[in-house]
Formats: sequence, structure tokens, C-alpha cells
Amino acid sequence: MRIMVVKSYHEMSKKAANMVASQVVLKPDSIIGLATGETPLGMYDELVKMYTAGIVDFSEASTFNLDEYCGISKDNPQSYFYYMAKKLFDHININRNKINIPNGMAKDVEKECIEYDEKIKSAGGIDIQILGIGRNGHIGFNEPDIKFESRTHLVNLDEDTIIANSRFFDSIDEVPTKAISMGIKNIMHAEKIVLLANGVEKANAIYKTIKGKITPEVPASILQLHRDVVIMMDEDAASMIGDSIYED
Ligand code: PGA
Repeated sequence: MRIMVVKSYHEMSKKAANMVASQVVLKPDSIIGLATGETPLGMYDELVKMYTAGIVDFSEASTFNLDEYCGISKDNPQSYFYYMAKKLFDHININRNKINIPNGMAKDVEKECIEYDEKIKSAGGIDIQILGIGRNGHIGFNEPDIKFESRTHLVNLDEDTIIANSRFFDSIDEVPTKAISMGIKNIMHAEKIVLLANGVEKANAIYKTIKGKITPEVPASILQLHRDVVIMMDEDAASMIGDSIYED
């Protein structure tokens, strides 16, 4: 686990964008696992800037998003499909056929999940997976008490997650209660993982992820067992891990 503490959200975003861009420069047909939420917004801005400046070419890359709400259509501004289009895909030269996001409107959710797993597998697996972290330690929508062996599956969102995400909706009643999410197994199979966290509200989850025991109650704690994971955060998110900022 490599721990990187940076001064600001901006620095975190730039470094994360550099990691993704380097991956794509080294392997143009990289498979990139992407996250939504507030945390990666700065990274997406930086990636758009790098693309516009001619530093990185996404034409051969493929993407797989971690999750999508159920019951929200692609053209709904609250959908993660819409978010990804507005924040990244509309501004770079990614091939639209190489974008993958679970279909939250699927009639047969179980089939959708199996097919999503198969698509990841037949693409050759994820080269670099970007993650945010929930205040409850979730990664993707793998909420506390998840089974570590899970693949893409239907999730009942935790109350804490519904409250946290209600800031993006007009009222808490509008927040979907279900989602489709890649499982911990999908995430752990990624070649490289970059988890981003900023703000003091993530400090406790970060502390438990890095220093706590590995437990399904803190889904991100499983990352301690991944062979190539970088946890990059600002000083606020790092505020509970003390001085022993270590790498191993
Ligand atoms: P956030 O969400 O980036 O909006 O804080 C992260 C998460 O819930 O995984």
C-alpha cells in the first residue's frame, strides 16, 4: 500500500490525472476503471486539459465505471452516465463504443451484472482503477458488510450513503435506494488501484482503511491486500493517520 499525502485537492487531482495519462501513454488501449462523486471531478478537469493540450490520446482506451443508480435513465442529470458525459467523455476523444457503465434501467438486473463482469473479462481486465471512498468506507457502492468475493451486483444503498448523496438531489426522497456496483472482487482484480480522498469527513474512513483490521465493515480495508494500490489524499483526509506516513 503506497500512501501519498499532498497539500491540496488541486495537487491530488493533478497527480491522479498524471497517473491515468501515463497509463494511457504507455498502453494506449488501456482499460480504465472510473469513479463518480465529487472527489474525482478535479482529476477529470485535468485529464480534459491534458487531452486538449495533446498530451494524451484516449482513442484506443476503454472505460468501465464502478456503478450506476437503479431506476434513473441515462439522460437524467442525476445518472452517472450523464455525469461521465458532462465531466469527461464529451470533452475527450474516447470511442463511444468503448465506454461501459452499468445500465441502471436494466429489466433483468442479474443478467446485466453477469454481462458487465463478462465485458470486463473479455476486455482483458482493468489496468488502472480509480476509487473514491465513502464516509462509511465504501468503495464503489460496496457498502459495509459486503461480501469480499462479490462481483457486479445489485446493492441496497446504506442510509449513510443516501444521506451523503442527497446533496446532489433536491430532496433526500429523490435519492435512489438501489444501485448496480462492481464488486470487491472486480476491484481487487485491477492491476493498479488509485484511491483518492479529500476533506476531513473522509479522515475516519481513511484511518480505518489504512490502519484498521481488514473487515467487511470497512470495505476499503481489503485494499491492504492489493499488490499495487496508491492511496492519495489531502492533509485533511490524512489527519487521523498521524505522522507515520509510510510506504511498503
Ligand atoms: P464523494 O463520494 O467523492 O462524492 O465524496 C465518494 C464515494 O461515496 O465513494
